[in-house]
Amino acid sequence: MGVCGHFAVSWKCLVAMALRLLFLIPAGVPARSGESSFSKPMDNVTVRQGESAVLKCITDNKVSRVAWLNRTTILFAGRDKWSLDPRVILLNNTAVTEYSIKIQNVDVHDEGPYVCSVLTNKKPKSSRVHLIVQVPARIVNVSTDITVNEGSNVTLMCLAIGRPEPTIIWKHHLNRGHKVMSEGEYVEITGITKEQSGVYECSSNNDVAAPDVRTVQVTVNYPPYILNARSTGAPVGQKGILQCEASAVPVADFEWYKEDRRLLNGLNGVKIETKGKQSKLVFFNVSEEDYGNYTCVALNTMGHTNASIILYGPGAVHDVNRASLSPQSLLLLWTVTLLYLFKF
Ligand SMILES: *[C@@H]1O[C@H](CO)[C@@H](O)[C@H](O)[C@H]1NC(C)=O
Ligand SMILES: *[C@@H]1O[C@H](CO)[C@@H](O)[C@H](O)[C@H]1NC(C)=O
Ligand SMILES: *[C@@H]1O[C@H](CO)[C@@H](O)[C@H](O)[C@H]1NC(C)=O
Ligand SMILES: *[C@@H]1O[C@H](CO)[C@@H](O)[C@H](O)[C@H]1NC(C)=O
Ligand SMILES: *[C@@H]1O[C@H](CO)[C@@H](O)[C@H](O)[C@H]1NC(C)=O
Ligand SMILES: *[C@@H]1O[C@H](CO)[C@@H](O)[C@H](O)[C@H]1NC(C)=O
Ligand SMILES: *[C@@H]1O[C@H](CO)[C@@H](O)[C@H](O)[C@H]1NC(C)=O
Ligand SMILES: *[C@@H]1O[C@H](CO)[C@@H](O)[C@H](O)[C@H]1NC(C)=O
Repeated sequence: MGVCGHFAVSWKCLVAMALRLLFLIPAGVPARSGESSFSKPMDNVTVRQGESAVLKCITDNKVSRVAWLNRTTILFAGRDKWSLDPRVILLNNTAVTEYSIKIQNVDVHDEGPYVCSVLTNKKPKSSRVHLIVQVPARIVNVSTDITVNEGSNVTLMCLAIGRPEPTIIWKHHLNRGHKVMSEGEYVEITGITKEQSGVYECSSNNDVAAPDVRTVQVTVNYPPYILNARSTGAPVGQKGILQCEASAVPVADFEWYKEDRRLLNGLNGVKIETKGKQSKLVFFNVSEEDYGNYTCVALNTMGHTNASIILYGPGAVHDVNRASLSPQSLLLLWTVTLLYLFKF
């Protein structure tokens, strides 16, 4: 039925049948493309999804019939529109020899071969155009932020779509720039270390538009370790402070001990001030009994560690520099010097 359903044989019908016979050749067979093309070999027209594509066709003056086809379907025969698709329009071509169409709001299923067919002195010729539709890379699913324990196996996922197929690159954000880790949708980290915690960036790109980038925060739990714990001197009657610093995820809690006795905040003239990774044991008014060996314990869900710190008085000798300047050392130095001078 359709166009050729009536007895009256219109030219439209004849052209349609002729064109159908011509182009009912399986798509993909480069049938007679060399000889039947009157312009260049098949051109490609590349547009982004949603944009408009203009398919140009230049004829000559001896043309009797022209048509545009999408694969084997007639879009236009002469100036008559056969396609029901409102996105397809025949351009008001200024030159008599131009017969171009425009496809608006192009979508991926429009991709394929289009043919401009021309009947010149009863000899059919055609010019083929391959419409290529590109779609910018877009990430459609990515791992959520995760928290794992040190030593766990972690798999991060990043799924992207686009035409052409996007490539996916994973990067680990470090203090000094980025470290490219791997290419592909999945990245596997076996036995994760605390140094491997941080922000992971998934970048998907197919050169159609700017890359689509997403990030995943990976938090690695690890037991505390002491960063800093130094013995301190403080005279009697003054304020004294012992400090202890520990790195841990989750952040450490601190406990202070003197020998086996746990020290509690606000009791026995001491205050415990903990802020982030640092804890301070503050003596409001140091007395003789306060001097001694203290233990700072840092703990979290992953484990615990401790460090010993001495609170000492002004008389105590606690480091090498001070020891080398002791009266004995000075006396020895003077003796050597005098002997040396005496010899000459
Ligand atoms: C058109 O695109 C196809 C692949 O889509 C490619 O093989 C061919 O070389 C392209 N032709 C031109 C003329 O660019
Ligand atoms: C072509 O011209 C006609 C009449 O001037 C106008 O109605 C139509 O919108 C034009 N089409 C395009 C695609 O410019
Ligand atoms: C071209 O043909 C394909 C397959 O039949 C169809 O999906 C698409 O909508 C057509 N595009 C145009 C612009 O006619
Ligand atoms: C993303 O991928 C995960 C794992 O394959 C799946 O459980 C989830 O439903 C996906 N989310 C979306 C929005 O597709
Ligand atoms: C992590 O992966 C390694 C190697 O694939 C495997 O030997 C190990 O058992 C895995 N560890 C866990 C906690 O699944
Ligand atoms: C510190 O303690 C001593 C002895 O208990 C006391 O004499 C002195 O007044 C105190 N100093 C301060 C600043 O509280
Ligand atoms: C402090 O006590 C700890 C144990 O509680 C011990 O290992 C360390 O040697 C002591 N430090 C000093 C200087 O006595
Ligand atoms: C400090 O650590 C040592 C060794 O791990 C342990 O034997 C000791 O009991 C700890 N001390 C405290 C007060 O937790």
